[in-house]
Amino acid sequence: MATIGFIGSGHIGSQLARLAVANGYDVVMSNSRGPETLAALVKELGPKARAATAVEAAQAGDMVVVTVPLKNYRAVPVLPLAGKVVMDTNNYYPQRDGHIGELDDESTTTAELLQAHLPKSKVVKAFNHIYAADLTAHGQPAQSRDRRALVIAGNDEGAKAAVARLIDQFGFDVVDAGPLAEGWRIQRDTPGYGPRRTAAELRRDLAAAKRYAEK
Ligand SMILES: NC(=O)c1ccc[n+]([C@@H]2O[C@H](COP(=O)([O-])OP(=O)(O)OC[C@H]3O[C@@H](n4cnc5c(N)ncnc54)[C@H](OP(=O)(O)O)[C@@H]3O)[C@@H](O)[C@H]2O)c1
Repeated sequence: MATIGFIGSGHIGSQLARLAVANGYDVVMSNSRGPETLAALVKELGPKARAATAVEAAQAGDMVVVTVPLKNYRAVPVLPLAGKVVMDTNNYYPQRDGHIGELDDESTTTAELLQAHLPKSKVVKAFNHIYAADLTAHGQPAQSRDRRALVIAGNDEGAKAAVARLIDQFGFDVVDAGPLAEGWRIQRDTPGYGPRRTAAELRRDLAAAKRYAEK
């Protein structure tokens, strides 16, 4: 079984780590304040978890989740993530993140910003539109009726396939929105952002999404 590294161990990071451990993965957790501040989480997660620095979590992960406030994306270590699949859960909230010109004018998207920061990594946008608590509450086995679906977007088909397998293991169907540039279709304030949706419903929501400037 593989190791999943976490850059960020807050609401989303801790929930994804719970799913990862439950599905047999090892996890290496990190945050901004240092491994010692993650002792309670690591204790809860059990022997398959350890805490480390962000650089160590990036090095240790066969796949790595970046789940930090977007304003901090430039602090994500670059070199240890080269060649790796990096899952990006981040969303843009100007009141939290400050204004980012390329996002305000919609000339790029959040996951494209991370991809530009990590040019040798394979960034896949994932887990950005589900509330943290729902991650461990809404998963169901494959083929369940009305199974909830989650969106991915990415420029590398192999990386997307790997993330899709993980999402299926975690209990959700997968809808591929296309390349990272299409990730805006599931950004904050789009129809699919937040509510429980099946794959068919999510596809409809992606098609109906509007850019901020069109609203
Ligand atoms: N909450 C949700 O339901 C939800 C759902 C989908 C997507 N998202 C998105 O996912 C991202 C994370 O959300 P969240 O709710 O999990 O945030 P959160 O609870 O505030 O957790 C953020 C985590 O990132 C860590 N962090 C901050 N700067 C870092 C750095 N430079 N290096 C390493 N770790 C760093 C924080 O560590 P410290 O505590 O030590 O600073 C904390 O562990 C956000 O972009 C958010 O918009 C959230």
